[in-house]
Amino acid sequence: MRPVITTVARKLTRPVKIREWEIPAGILVAPAIDMIHRREDLYPEPDSFKPERFLGKKPDPYTFFPFGGGTRRCIGMAFAQYEMKIVLATVLGRAKLALPRPGALAVELRAVIFAPEGGTRVVFQRRLVAPTAHVAAA
Ligand code: HEM
Repeated sequence: MRPVITTVARKLTRPVKIREWEIPAGILVAPAIDMIHRREDLYPEPDSFKPERFLGKKPDPYTFFPFGGGTRRCIGMAFAQYEMKIVLATVLGRAKLALPRPGALAVELRAVIFAPEGGTRVVFQRRLVAPTAHVAAA
């Protein structure tokens, strides 16, 4: 929903026809990640958080591309996804996080990426975790 990079750009080395448009070489073409991800025909109710829309199918690289695509796709994609899984599992296993006020956060441009404006304040509620059994070595 909120890709940190909203467009990926490619300068055409040869003319390309995309639908009815003949685009000459030298033109910069920039697929807009955030606009494609919000297309109602591809993602019904695009503004709703529904991770289950990806269950049972692989995301289509032409309609879901937060890491760009092709040979210049993000080199850190695998690392970023691995890191996100570990951080989310570690944090959410121990705490409930909530926004102080519900609603969309304002976004600001930081160098080449988009991020929450002024950082994100969260309400942190510790989860009560069942104590882990420790088996003492004999
Ligand atoms: C959620 C995390 C990240 C997102 C959403 C993201 C997204 C992107 C996107 C959209 C591009 C442009 C790809 C294209 O033009 O097709 C890119 C390029 C790149 N990213 Fe990431 N990125 C993430 C994390 C990382 C990390 C962790 C690293 C390094 C450890 C990294 C390194 C790079 C590099 C070096 C490029 C340039 C690749 C090239 O031009 O060949 N990114 N990233």
